[in-house]
Amino acid sequence: MRMHKGCSASGLDGVVAAETDLSEVDGEAGRLVIGGYEVEALTGSVTFEDVCALLWDGALPDEAGKKSMQQALAAGRDRAAKLLPDLGNALALPDGMDALRAAMAHLVPPPDAVNASIVGAAAVFAAAWARHQTGQPAVAPDPSLSLAADYLRMVRGTPAPAPLAAGMDAYLVTVSDHGLNASTFAARVVTSTGSDAVSSVVAGIGALKGPLHGGAPGPVLDMLDAVGSPEHAMAWIEGELRAGRRIMGMGHRIYRVRDPRAAVLERAATALEAAGHTTPHLALARAVERVAESALAAKYPDRPLRANVEFYTSVLLDAVGLPRALFSPTFAVARAAGWCAHIEEQRAVGKLIRPASRYVGEPAAKV
Ligand code: COA
Repeated sequence: MRMHKGCSASGLDGVVAAETDLSEVDGEAGRLVIGGYEVEALTGSVTFEDVCALLWDGALPDEAGKKSMQQALAAGRDRAAKLLPDLGNALALPDGMDALRAAMAHLVPPPDAVNASIVGAAAVFAAAWARHQTGQPAVAPDPSLSLAADYLRMVRGTPAPAPLAAGMDAYLVTVSDHGLNASTFAARVVTSTGSDAVSSVVAGIGALKGPLHGGAPGPVLDMLDAVGSPEHAMAWIEGELRAGRRIMGMGHRIYRVRDPRAAVLERAATALEAAGHTTPHLALARAVERVAESALAAKYPDRPLRANVEFYTSVLLDAVGLPRALFSPTFAVARAAGWCAHIEEQRAVGKLIRPASRYVGEPAAKV
């Protein structure tokens, strides 16, 4: 169990500023630090299991710690698989995030294995939903595998080649945590009331679902398909902007430069190519990014709108073989690791989060 150093809620003119020692997002410099490590250093060097240990226990694990995290997450997947027959119609819901939200709401984790149960269940339920959508039965988890490899296997029905599992792992590590983003904040608000971790995670899933947060990677791939080829990119992007629509995968509330995770995921996709796997959208994505960046710069000269994490998420998750409808639920699998860490941190604060509102309505009338 991690001992949180700096976490407290400090009052600033009635505003509560949350402190966290889990991750730091520097929007000006384009820097993301997770558990004390730059995201560039983590991705490709450590596993998702390692990052779970980093976030939940406060340090990268030694060999024994790696084994115990791997076993804990495998046990979480096993418990979730046993729950599959009792999820009502959750997995029949057509939207993957609706399905995951409904499925996760059924979870009652053992008190000594809450985090691993939540993350393991998210992986099992998301994979089972994807298979249900194509009329295939769920695949039982394999406790000998990493979560990344087992997730791909549970989606595909056959073991994934090692480079694809490595690409999946790189994705899960990269998006495991990201400061006080909307879904993490939602989860922390629920925890701050004294509520339980599953309720908090369900709130996080609800917030993550929106296209302005975690719902963008599928639409990014739709955009790449609609563009078709680099020479059509400018006309397509300009048409979207003229129609008042947003370019998915571009812009960020915090980053004023390119999202550092875009580079990390682009690198992971490039590594797949180097290992002999096709990355059908990588070259087109690079071309569309350049065009979108310049078109957005022309339209919003004072507001840098650069590629965000979702841009190359779409390329990488497509290349590892996930259907695009599963992109957002897969984001939730990874981010559940961060949510769980933030939930524990918030619980250690022990204070209700209650943002103030400023009343701008009519003065009170006499009845
Ligand atoms: N495409 C076109 N215009 C965009 C844009 C995009 N991707 N992102 C921002 N803008 C424009 C807005 O239309 C707005 O213009 P206006 O002032 O003329 O209305 C201006 O830039 C500021 O946008 P705003 O929504 O206030 O900025 P924000 O910080 O709240 O936006 C996002 C952050 C992520 C919500 C936004 O960039 C976006 O919608 N991106 C596309 C969706 C996406 O990729 N989501 C995943 C995020 S990780």
